[in-house]
This record gives sequence, C-alpha cells and structure tokens, in this order.
Amino acid sequence: MSSKVGMHAIENASIDELRGLQLSRLKNTLNHVYENSPVYREKFKAHGVHPDDLKTLSDLSKFPMTTKADLRDNYPFGMFCTPMEQVVRVHASSGTTGKPTVVGYTQNDVDMWADVVARSIYAAGGRPKDKVHISYGYGLFTGGLGAHYGAERLGCTVIPMSGGQTQKQVQLIRDFDPDIIMVTPSYMLNIADEMARQGMDPEKLALRVGIFGAEPWTEAMREEMQRRLSMDAVDIYGLSEVIGPGVAQECVESKDGPTIWEDHFYPEIIDPLTGEVLPDGEEGELVFTSLTKEAMPIIRYRTRDLTRLLPGTSRTMRRMGKITGRSDDMLIIRGVNVFPTQIEEQICNTRGLAPHYLIELFKQGNMDCVTIRVEQQPEVHGSQLNGLANELAGKVKTFIGISSKVEVVPAGVLPRSEGKAKRVLDKR
Ligand code: DLL
Repeated sequence: MSSKVGMHAIENASIDELRGLQLSRLKNTLNHVYENSPVYREKFKAHGVHPDDLKTLSDLSKFPMTTKADLRDNYPFGMFCTPMEQVVRVHASSGTTGKPTVVGYTQNDVDMWADVVARSIYAAGGRPKDKVHISYGYGLFTGGLGAHYGAERLGCTVIPMSGGQTQKQVQLIRDFDPDIIMVTPSYMLNIADEMARQGMDPEKLALRVGIFGAEPWTEAMREEMQRRLSMDAVDIYGLSEVIGPGVAQECVESKDGPTIWEDHFYPEIIDPLTGEVLPDGEEGELVFTSLTKEAMPIIRYRTRDLTRLLPGTSRTMRRMGKITGRSDDMLIIRGVNVFPTQIEEQICNTRGLAPHYLIELFKQGNMDCVTIRVEQQPEVHGSQLNGLANELAGKVKTFIGISSKVEVVPAGVLPRSEGKAKRVLDKR
C-alpha cells in the first residue's frame, strides 16, 4: 500500500541533513539535465559553467536561469530530459498570450508529486479518514489532478468535482459533507455566496479546512473566509513548471506562510532587476530548482512571484511569505506600484463591501485613472452606498497612495470566478 500517513522524517530533519540531501540531489539534477537536454547543455556552455562547478549549494548562483520564454521556445516537448516513452503525463498552462507552457512527468515524477501533495494536505490538517472535495479544475491545469492524486495518496476519500456548476458544488457539499475543500479562494467565495443563497448554514457542515491557492489572496481574505465558513483557511502554493500544487504548503497550526518542501524544490530569492541572489528575509522574485524531477527538471526557474524566504516554524524547512503578487500583475499607476491584493485588503477591511471586485485602468489624456468596482454586501442599504465608496477611496488613498474612483455595485453583478479570478481590466 502506498498510503503515506503522518509526517515524514525529512520534514523535521536537521538543517545540516537537509542541506546535505539538497546538495547531492542538486548535483544529480545538474548532471541529468547536462547529459540529457541539449537546451540546458547549450545554456550552461554559453554561460561557461559545467555541473562539476557546483561544490556547494551557493554555487547554484553561477548557473543560468530559466524563464517561461525557454519553455515557449522549445514548445511543446523540447525541455523534456527523458525519452517520450517514459513520459506518462503532460500538463499545460494556458498563459495569457500565444503558446501554452507544456510540462511532462515520468511515473516517478507523478509519484513524487502525489507524495508532496499528500504531505501538504496532512500539514493543512487533513487525515486519511477525511473526505476531500476538489473544485480545482481537472484537465491540462495542474490543480485538479494534482490535488486528486495527493488526497488519494494520503488515503482520503476524493470527491473529484472540478470547477464550475456552482449550484451542484453546493448540493454535493450538502449531501456528501466533505471535511476538506481544495479550491481557489475566489471560487470559494463564489461557492459561499451560493451556499448563502440556498440558505445553508456552514456551521452545520463537516467542512474543517479549506486549502486555497493558485492565485494570490490576503490575510484579510483569510479572516473573511474563516469567519463566513467557520473553517481553517490555509495556503497551498505551486506552479506547473515546478510540479503543480504542493511546492509549498502552509501548516494549519501556525498559518504563517507556506513551508517549502525543500527536499524536492530548492528556493532562491533574486533581485528581479539584477538577478543577484538576496539573503533570506529580503523581498524579491522567487526562483526554483527541482531536485528530484526526471522528465522535466527545472534549473533556477524565475517564477515572477514576489515574496521572501523565512525561517521554519512548524517544520525545519523554510517558509515563504504569502505572495503579494506576480511582477506581471504589478500595476504602475501614476508612478505608484500597486498590487491587486493591496486593494483586496482594503475592501475586506471595509464593512459593507464584499470581496468581489474588478480594477479598471484607463487613460484620461495622459493620466492613468483607476476605477474600482466592488460589490456591496446584500444587506447594505442604498443610502449607505456613497459613504462606502468614499470610505474605500479614502483607504486606498491613505494606505496605497493612489486616487481612485470607487463604484459600489449591487451584489452579484460582477463576473464570478470558477478558477483563477481576473481582477484587472487594463484599458490603457
Ligand atoms: O496554479 C498550481 C496550483 C494549483 C497551485 C492549485 C495551488 C493550487 P499555474 O497555473 O502554473 O499552477 O500557476 C502558477 O499561480 O506562479 C503564482 O503566480 C500563482 N499561485 C499559485 N499558488 C499561489 C498561492 C498553479 N498560493 C502561478 N498564492 C504561480 C499566490 C499563487 N499565488
């Protein structure tokens, strides 16, 4: 039986033991890509490095980074390092423009992935007896199948609902009474609204933990969801290029940012402009090197996600801070850098507003203008709307530093997410 119950010894190994394991795995990975991937071999040569140049973990900084462009240029399978007959699965992420990014897995890769997701669900408070409702989309997106195999690996009962069909989601939650739900935070809110519409009382449900990820969400949103759904809300992080969900998982007992499963994924933080490696604690772009992958190992992959590395708490492995946003999502509004999550935080902190929002950017002459469209809570009176709009605009000005126009709209009018939410409409 492959069910893996309980915490793995490596999760709380000494730092020395962990670093030793990482070093030997990193050497193997560098040799594997050098021998089996013309793309990496050429990149290393152009950069004047050879796998033998890695003597310590910090030598990794001598090696070239990998970006989404490398994956696109070698579309679809050019980054694979094993013969195609050993690849048992592919996934792809759509990307905003052009070709999707394709990733491949051997049977060992799929097994390792199930192990890290099982470990993640356990860290989130899940146990083998639990029923796990999965509303991440199944298909080319890694969310659904990644969560699925991990929950099975832990020994849970999986309800493979996938995304969409919100009324049915709620019916199944009522009838099957799952203990855990795995879904994007924006879709969870959508499901919560539908529960309210159907008159369901979340207190009466077995639901104990929500494992939310695939998009940024704030501490304020955590509070909101925990209050509304009376369950623990924890953060799961991952990206298809590195494996999918389960690269890092927040532990339910500390809720202080995802623990990175460092025995499989080696993190660095770099200055996004210079590429220089920054010390732990400093904010920058997260970069990952896989340590055990076979079909598509990844060397120093630039995630574009902005965060910092923090010391371990519930585990000896390091944590990452909650992601504030991707460098691609950063809006520059009249010279001020703004992330949608900052606006979300102010919305959650304004009583009477619901965290369904859309940020619209446009030009008036040469000026950047921002309209924040946000829904009112259903119980709010028409007479309060102006006050609410002014309150939010005031907070955005004070805490973020930009002037905006706020339109408070009736509950239910903004488009709803069934997966990753689209928060920004940039018409500039
Ligand atoms: O979103 C994998 C995943 C599925 C993670 C389900 C968690 C749960 P991609 O579609 O390749 O893979 O998108 C990866 O999503 O680089 C981040 O920008 C963002 N992201 C993922 N998890 C989080 C999170 C999946 N917990 C991209 N917080 C990443 C913030 C997240 N952003």
